[in-house]
Amino acid sequence: MPCKNGKIRSVFVGCGRIAILHTEGYKNHPDAELYGVFDVDSKKAEAFAREHGIRKVYRSYGEVLEDKTVDAVEILVPHHAHCELAVQACKAKKHVSVQKPMALNLSQCDEMIAAAKENGVRLKVFENFVFYPPYQLAKKMLDEGEIGEPLSIRYKMNNGGLGSANIPAVGRKEAKLGLEKTGWEVPIGSWLWRLNDTLCGGGPLVFDDGYHKFSIIMHMMGDVEKVCAWIDCSAVLPGIYQDCPATIMWKHKQGQKYGVLDIVSSKDMYIQSKYYTCDERMEITGSRGVLWVTRCTGTMLPDVAPVLMYRDGKLHEYWDMLTDWGVSFRNCTLDFIDAIKNDREPVLSGERGREVLKFALCAIESSNKRREVFLDSYEDRKLERRKGILRIFGKR
Ligand SMILES: NC(=O)c1ccc[n+]([C@@H]2O[C@H](COP(=O)([O-])OP(=O)(O)OC[C@H]3O[C@@H](n4cnc5c(N)ncnc54)[C@H](O)[C@@H]3O)[C@@H](O)[C@H]2O)c1
Repeated sequence: MPCKNGKIRSVFVGCGRIAILHTEGYKNHPDAELYGVFDVDSKKAEAFAREHGIRKVYRSYGEVLEDKTVDAVEILVPHHAHCELAVQACKAKKHVSVQKPMALNLSQCDEMIAAAKENGVRLKVFENFVFYPPYQLAKKMLDEGEIGEPLSIRYKMNNGGLGSANIPAVGRKEAKLGLEKTGWEVPIGSWLWRLNDTLCGGGPLVFDDGYHKFSIIMHMMGDVEKVCAWIDCSAVLPGIYQDCPATIMWKHKQGQKYGVLDIVSSKDMYIQSKYYTCDERMEITGSRGVLWVTRCTGTMLPDVAPVLMYRDGKLHEYWDMLTDWGVSFRNCTLDFIDAIKNDREPVLSGERGREVLKFALCAIESSNKRREVFLDSYEDRKLERRKGILRIFGKR
């Protein structure tokens, strides 16, 4: 469906922690405008609009959907609301970008995909890692056969707490060690719904943040056949748990390709970051060489090249690219705008976003059931009834 005003007019639904990074792609864009915002917390929406020079603040979601001049919405709210808001937007003929993970289960994904199809609008799952320039270079090198046939992938996620501004009201030890505070401030409200698995859909590290990892792994190596996982839980603060340490293994559908994702949280580890105080490293082994991407969200290894390749006895360093994690958001937004403008599928369509979610759900199912789980025979999980109050998940 073409846009109605020449310029694509987008509205942000949700003006929380991540919304600021979604503004980048609209800056000076010749074909799109960040036209309005809506948040159930109207003060937040007003402050955000003031700060970013946004024309319109809506009083209700209904008002956004009734506005015929709006072409698209970006859904930036807690996960339990993704499906409902996306389906309503499709029915009002608005294109939809929905932040990851797209929904809580597969039947919600199906509803969203069907609503977009029936109403002739685009549905994009906003997953920014695939747009991070070092990953984009690594993917190009893989596709061009630089390391031969890809055989295995290892993905490491480090989460660190020392000196982190992400964690409100935590005692600060970093000054004693001569370290600056690191990371951006994350308000307590932004964490609370994540610790309630009926609102978040799962734990903060495997289900929520893990979606990025499942997405980039499939992007690099293709579809997954079966998964086997151990997902433990550990206390962040007394009575509050997160879903790690976690080790997840899988086999890809094509050929003899395997992978491992290893998530660990270290409370006394200092991680340099402008954003969340975590960082990632990826290693892909091919039939002729090895590729490494040495950073993403943070910058634990600033003196190491963002992309490295070992081949024929030599190590090659690749430095010439943007490495700020924020750039991946701008690139991801540009994909949404271009998909609308040129009436094409976005990079993570509803269908692909559903497959990524299935990978995550199978990992969780494998850990819960203590056995390997095949993606093709996975039975969708039923959603538990919302309890209305915080239910902090702990040892199961
Ligand atoms: N790509 C990434 O790396 C990344 C990072 C952080 C968050 N996210 C995703 O972005 C989304 C938002 O996360 P966040 O950290 O900004 O959360 P947040 O809690 O900081 O902000 C959510 C905002 O949504 C508002 N809200 C809640 N329900 C609403 C509704 N029904 N209608 C309108 N507004 C509503 C809240 O008032 C709040 O301002 C989530 O899907 C999350 O997983 C992605």
